[in-house]
Amino acid sequence: NNPPWPAFRGYHTYSFANATMGVRLPTILSKAIQDVLMTVNTLSAESLIIDLLGCVKRMEELKAELEGNGVLRYIKDDGEADVALWNKEIAKYFLGKDFMNATWLFAEAYKYRRLRECFTLSQHWADYDVFFRQKCDTFSRSTDAVFELSCRFVEPFMHAAHISEGEKLDAEKLMFHELTQICLWGNSTDLSLLINMTEEQIKSLQSTGGEALAQTEKNILGNHTEQLWDLVKKLKGKTRGGRIDFILDNAGFELYCDCVYADFLVQMGFASQVRFHGKRYPWFVSDVTKKDWEWLLNSMVYGRLFPDVTEIERESLKSLGERWKEYERNGTWIYEQHPYWCTGYTFWDLHSEAPDLFLHLSKSDLVIFKGDLNHRKLTYDCAAPASTPFSVAIGSMASAPGAPPVCSMRTIKSDVVVGLGKNGDEIAANLNKEEDGWKISGKYAVVLLSGGRPG
Ligand code: F6P
Ligand code: MG
Repeated sequence: NNPPWPAFRGYHTYSFANATMGVRLPTILSKAIQDVLMTVNTLSAESLIIDLLGCVKRMEELKAELEGNGVLRYIKDDGEADVALWNKEIAKYFLGKDFMNATWLFAEAYKYRRLRECFTLSQHWADYDVFFRQKCDTFSRSTDAVFELSCRFVEPFMHAAHISEGEKLDAEKLMFHELTQICLWGNSTDLSLLINMTEEQIKSLQSTGGEALAQTEKNILGNHTEQLWDLVKKLKGKTRGGRIDFILDNAGFELYCDCVYADFLVQMGFASQVRFHGKRYPWFVSDVTKKDWEWLLNSMVYGRLFPDVTEIERESLKSLGERWKEYERNGTWIYEQHPYWCTGYTFWDLHSEAPDLFLHLSKSDLVIFKGDLNHRKLTYDCAAPASTPFSVAIGSMASAPGAPPVCSMRTIKSDVVVGLGKNGDEIAANLNKEEDGWKISGKYAVVLLSGGRPG
């Protein structure tokens, strides 16, 4: 059951697929090799050095395959939980295909699985993360925005005294809109959008009641935040709030924003449980692994990442981190990592290829998919017209019995764009004419919702 539109492929020179497969991926691999060599230089035990150099050799072979547009092969049985899933998909669709004529989504994901294999075949380095240094860096470089948020949100949310129930709901709605945007723009590439937003917009929100929010809201080309609010506010009616799932994207600063949002949803009584879904191994450079999750919470509480901040700021970050760790201890927050998230399958196949995961998600009141890659997977990464309704574009994730409400929060960083409404094709055509690179800049975004289908 596939969509009627063609999936993007590396040889499509008009698409970002071409530059990614031809230039970006080899560059990412070169940087990864440099990272490993940096580690090699810190070692003294010969057995560890030789073993790690074996990983480098395999990475170099992979890079040569990528640059020479080699044919895809089966994943070796390295003991990972996903070998069968991968090889089943390769056997079905990709035998004999090369990096450029396989679908972009699959070929790109395959590169990260092969990178994983470079390490799992070693004796001592199976869990080495070539991107870990980079990931930590994005968080420590976002000082302003990190403390802007920690200082503002460290105190539990409280309503002003003596306001009516109606006024309370209005205030909650305004907060919801703001925090949804914080969570959304946390996904922007260079983080500058968010930094601008927190400094200018939050101040402006407090004084002018939301004009600045309206400014950044203009760049959300398909925006279902209002429908999302209608869904979320009803969860309060449940005993202690509903269950909300986050299919996470990037570590560091984006994860921090996701947690601020999740914390808000818990405190306001919209969610009694939040499940965070991360990756089992390093994925698309910056995606969250268990180690990144622990690193964030622990460095907030114990770390000394920000030498130049005030005592009050440091304390705010620490208290926030302590509250989040307590959520984890008492089961309000749960971190999970299903093998399916690190495969080349789109989510059109989730219900058939990972029925256990589909069933698990179908019990959720809302599943929020963060970021560009998750959006590509939801929409089959194909050339659907921009006016295509989101619930059509995501196929079985909207139409299969038991499909939960699904929200995609994504800054636009690749070709597929859907859910822009009736005039969507015109909007996209104009942007194509007027703004070169609008689909990869991260300046624009979508917040799209599908209501799901009861099982
Ligand atoms: O390499 C291309 C890509 O898959 C794009 O989708 C995007 O630029 C990036 O990688 C991943 O972005 P995100 O972290 O938002 O999923
Ligand atoms: Mg990512």
